[in-house]
Amino acid sequence: MTIWIPELSQDGPRYRALAHAIERAIDDGELAPGARLPPQRRLADALGVTVGTVTRAYALVEQSGRVSAQVGSGTYVKTEQTAEGFSRVIGTPHEGLVDLGMSLPPPHPERQAILGRLLSEISADPAALEQAIDYPLDDTMATHRQRYADWLVHQGLTVDPDELLITQGGMNGITLALSALLSPNDRLAAEALSYPGVISAARQQSLKMIAVPFDDEGIDVAALAVRHERTPFKALYVMPEHHNPTTVQLSEKRRGALVALARERDFWLIEDAVMHLPQEARGTPLYQLAPERTIFVFSVAKILGGGLRSGVMRAPTALLERLRISLRNQCWAPPALMAEIAGRWLASGEADRLLSWQFEELKVRQAMVSEALAGFDVHMRCGGFYAWLVLPGEHRAAMLVETLEHKGVRVAPAEAFCVGSTAAPQAIRICLSAAPDRSALARALEVIVEALSHNMPPRWQTV
Ligand SMILES: Cc1ncc(COP(=O)(O)O)c(C=O)c1O
Repeated sequence: MTIWIPELSQDGPRYRALAHAIERAIDDGELAPGARLPPQRRLADALGVTVGTVTRAYALVEQSGRVSAQVGSGTYVKTEQTAEGFSRVIGTPHEGLVDLGMSLPPPHPERQAILGRLLSEISADPAALEQAIDYPLDDTMATHRQRYADWLVHQGLTVDPDELLITQGGMNGITLALSALLSPNDRLAAEALSYPGVISAARQQSLKMIAVPFDDEGIDVAALAVRHERTPFKALYVMPEHHNPTTVQLSEKRRGALVALARERDFWLIEDAVMHLPQEARGTPLYQLAPERTIFVFSVAKILGGGLRSGVMRAPTALLERLRISLRNQCWAPPALMAEIAGRWLASGEADRLLSWQFEELKVRQAMVSEALAGFDVHMRCGGFYAWLVLPGEHRAAMLVETLEHKGVRVAPAEAFCVGSTAAPQAIRICLSAAPDRSALARALEVIVEALSHNMPPRWQTV
């Protein structure tokens, strides 16, 4: 049986070079999740090094969180834990729980009342009712596309309704983009921490994900170029305005560099703009910089409500027919009734009022977080839903999340966002907008601060 044999760089100690080669192979998808690393003695013989060198290298890779050693069986590349992480984030609610795990807009007292008014309006409109009953065809959704386009333009985003496709929300836009652009076993690059929905969708479509490092200016374009050289990928999924979960925004300089690289290497950009920030807090959208290779994904989930399952995607016209075919294959078309509700809501001015209120409410909630977590390493963005808290000292995210859950507060651990075998930082995402009201948020923050004030007891005992 042949075994995987890495090529080692000549620099530094052998065990480090081997560990580095293994980590690179895992990050690039060459060693897939679940793959077994070669037996240590065989690899040592093949590389002409001692077994001790291989043992030290495997231990280093294990420390990085990419593999796990199973006694008597071998060392395996960790399978992605995001499906589990995601389902834990959206786990069942229980009494007294303040759930800051899911990404929800702050509850507005009148959201339901507005929906009720819109439903009455629609029920008195025979043409709208007829459209809601019939199979929707793309050309019968022109009004909906126009309403979305008008609202986006009003929000400072230049779009042409003919480049839009109505979807069932952001997740639907992402899966359509992936299925139109990529085939099974193709590579999709993304920031090393990314939206769990895209990780699940990529896995479902049998895509290989490439994790790309990022810093406080966003995705590292130089590292992206190196990754592409080693293992070319067809598309990159990014959240330029508000990275979920860390709240990082892609700098203008990097946007320019990213677009230049995408053109040079010829890969697609999937731009997720589901988290909608105030105009003054946004940068230049990638689809405006590179309209010929960017799919822009938008949804009303974070403004009107996720239950409407309505959104829109913008793509270059040459790609639209492929996206329409994917949409027809998936569900024929999004429900016209939902698009009608969302469209009327956007056109009525009520969405703008809701959004202004939301931005004000988020300001207050962010100030509460800043005050409660003063002195901690916490990151937020104007108009965003999250506080990304990098844990102090020896705190471990998994343990803290468990402790908080017992105390009635749910937050999301960094682990839920890890692409491939990326090692999870010790950090949590607190969705401050999801608390039912400010006093629930204040209580939850007290619980978090209290939990952080205790030293974590060591969890593992060895003898
Ligand atoms: C970054 C990001 N993209 C997409 C989505 C999915 O949006 P939708 O609920 O419209 O499917 C979410 C939902 O939380 C998200 O956070």
